[in-house]
Amino acid sequence: MLEDDFGREVSGVRVSLTDRCNFDCVYCHNEGLGDTRGPMDPQDDEMSADDVVRFLEVVSEFGVRKVKFTGGEPMLRGDLEEIIERTPDSMEVSLTTNGTFLPGRAEDLRDAGLERVNVSQDALDPEAFAEITQSGAYERVIEGVEAALEAGLDPVKLNMVVFEHTAGYVEGMVDHVAENPGLQLQLIEYMPELTGHPEWNIDIQRVHNWLAETADRVETREMHNRRRYYVGEGMVEIVDPVENPNFCANCHRVRVTHEGYLKGCLNRNDDLRSMGEMTREEIRETFRETVANRVPYYGEYMIKEDGEWVVNDEYIDAPISHS
Ligand code: 5AD
Repeated sequence: MLEDDFGREVSGVRVSLTDRCNFDCVYCHNEGLGDTRGPMDPQDDEMSADDVVRFLEVVSEFGVRKVKFTGGEPMLRGDLEEIIERTPDSMEVSLTTNGTFLPGRAEDLRDAGLERVNVSQDALDPEAFAEITQSGAYERVIEGVEAALEAGLDPVKLNMVVFEHTAGYVEGMVDHVAENPGLQLQLIEYMPELTGHPEWNIDIQRVHNWLAETADRVETREMHNRRRYYVGEGMVEIVDPVENPNFCANCHRVRVTHEGYLKGCLNRNDDLRSMGEMTREEIRETFRETVANRVPYYGEYMIKEDGEWVVNDEYIDAPISHS
């Protein structure tokens, strides 16, 4: 496995297959590109299935064993099943989706080799859901989660972004997964870095404290230093990335934008590298370069001065290759 200068091995890749989405969530950072949501029509800037597969074959040579497909909404790609089917067998495949296209397709995805799925579900209440996603497809998402469970995808994780609009629904969502075997809940602290609205932040420590009291059992995962709370039949995990050097220290993934740029850090867009015409050698070289230039965002790229996070001068004029 390739390792960066901070001792972080790259064991996974997160590949955006499209910028398009049928939702318009108010909090969306669009996989670290910011608010670039494009039209719904197929875009010619998207990587082809061949490009994606070639990339995965190359990084699997470097010992990358995990791929997560994401978007936009990755299920808007009609060739998603084909891409999963052609993903090297050595890689574990997962998917992050809004769930609306899972009914009728979850089994095909499983047959193609999909193992697990994350469905974005921020509330159990149709009205709140419509407001957050700026879309009315709540029932469709619930059906999608059901379809994923029926297809045997395991685990089915519900991603809930915890911020001002959703804080009141945490308890209901925890009860929901506690009552539904097969479901897990991933509470994700709202990240304002690329989306603005820092005023939507809520104090995630309160959620930790509340869960610690509510849970039957609490476990800390060594690898991510993330706590797991077991409640009833369910498991709840909290991801708190904001201003958290631990989050960055435990980051083992490189991202790929839908246009085929490698991206070493979720919160940065000054480190994108094109894989050129996507020859195997170009991919190899760009992947090596991206890993070699990876820098933890909090604690290194951003440092604390007089109690404030500021960009570390060392990285301001760092050379970027957009070749
Ligand atoms: N903060 C936290 N999580 C976010 N996601 C998208 N935007 C944000 C944000 N600003 C997460 C959602 C979604 C996944 C693709 O990314 O959980 O499920």
